[in-house]
Amino acid sequence: MTSHTQNMDFKAIILAAGRGARMRSALPKVMHKIAGKPLISHVVASCAELAPRQVVVVIASGMESVMQASLGEFEHCRFAIQHEQLGTGHAVRAAESELIGHDGITLILYGDTPLITPATMSRLMRAVQSDDALTAAVLGMRPHDPTGYGRLIVGANGALERIVECKDAKPSEKAIALCNSGVMAVRTPQLLSLLAQLGNSNTSGEYYLTDIIGLARVAGKKACVVEADSAELLGINTRAQLAEAEAALQARLRERAMLGGVTLVDPASIFLSADTLLGQDTVIHPFVVIGPGVIIGSNVEIRSHSHIEGATIASHAVIGPFARLRPGSVLEEGAHIGNFVELKKTIVGKGAKINHLSYVGDATVGENANVGAGTITCNYDGYHKYQTDIGAGAFIGSNSALVAPVRIGAGAIIGAGSVITEDVEANAMAIARGRQTTKPEGGKKFRTAKKKS
Ligand code: UD1
Ligand code: MG
Repeated sequence: MTSHTQNMDFKAIILAAGRGARMRSALPKVMHKIAGKPLISHVVASCAELAPRQVVVVIASGMESVMQASLGEFEHCRFAIQHEQLGTGHAVRAAESELIGHDGITLILYGDTPLITPATMSRLMRAVQSDDALTAAVLGMRPHDPTGYGRLIVGANGALERIVECKDAKPSEKAIALCNSGVMAVRTPQLLSLLAQLGNSNTSGEYYLTDIIGLARVAGKKACVVEADSAELLGINTRAQLAEAEAALQARLRERAMLGGVTLVDPASIFLSADTLLGQDTVIHPFVVIGPGVIIGSNVEIRSHSHIEGATIASHAVIGPFARLRPGSVLEEGAHIGNFVELKKTIVGKGAKINHLSYVGDATVGENANVGAGTITCNYDGYHKYQTDIGAGAFIGSNSALVAPVRIGAGAIIGAGSVITEDVEANAMAIARGRQTTKPEGGKKFRTAKKKS
């Protein structure tokens, strides 16, 4: 439990049942990814950091992928099914049974608002907790482009009076810069009674969660606004907003990497994933993409145009330019992977080198082995995958095909251009190619014959 959460008794409801029509996608909106991870995963992970009493994700039926993604971040997630998508208020009602009898705070999050930090969630809940007169606190923001967001109507005394949806707003209300992020903290017993009063007489014919603020006021109850940085509260409804959120998250991840002692030569051209781990004094050159599941040690150099996913890289390794490391690649200390080399499920031992134009898959490469230019492990026969093991200190001559399953012993040498189909014992030399024939004067004779014809 972090310091944010001491004495905090809260349940979180995460709304994720919306169809996301504006994304124009077969995928549920919250399954679109930023920094390599679905939107919903970001929200669940941040919320779970605050040790909630319960997390309930509201989904539509058939959204198994959303369940899987949520459980991947927090195994105690519960789910409520909203059978028809009749609005955000209706969605919270779908989770009502999980709230009955709870006397703390309900934190309502939107699955399409993934950049919110635990610190901001905590600040919002504290605002309610610290003032007995408050029923709810809403996170407000002032985005550069407020189009589409609900507007927060604040009274002369600073209290939040109501929220008006963009679609229903009068021109004077649209001119208000203070927008609704959608995130709110509400005292649970009062939330339940306000939800029961929601109607749907508005432009969309939906049950708006946002209406509970106006209803609270009518009942003589108070709400307030807690403002936060709009970069954290961007709501994703369109592909353009997805790209905007990606950019904002990348900026955050790059900054975190640099603060941790990593050199990003051109931060804007380097893409990281939410789970990327980078060691101190590692240097990443321009145009590098790091996908999910990558752990990089210290003093590693990643040269331009490399693409890395699911790989573990030990200190002092050198990668690229133009290297591709696929899942299951493990580089031990000081390994070198050069240009146009693809690795998959391969362990490259300490100081081993695969420097040019190679495909090495389902393999182990021993310490200090040297895999020459153009080496291919032929690991697939169209039906199954097979293993190649290259021993420590072995030397594989250029343009060799290692037909798996095959073992090359420690210290063995493979002649260039070989097609190796049988195991080679330690310290042996194997050459498997057609023997060269050289005919003296043969070139000259050939030309003479051609001229005559
Ligand atoms: C909502 C807010 C708006 C706010 C904006 C912030 C309402 C009525 N409006 O608008 O004031 O400025 O978010 O981003 O709340 N969902 C369901 N079931 C539904 C409808 C929606 O679970 O029936 C979920 C969606 O999956 C989504 C979230 O609720 O994660 C918000 O819904 P969305 O349709 O994106 O609302 P906005 O139009 O963005
Ligand atoms: Mg939205």
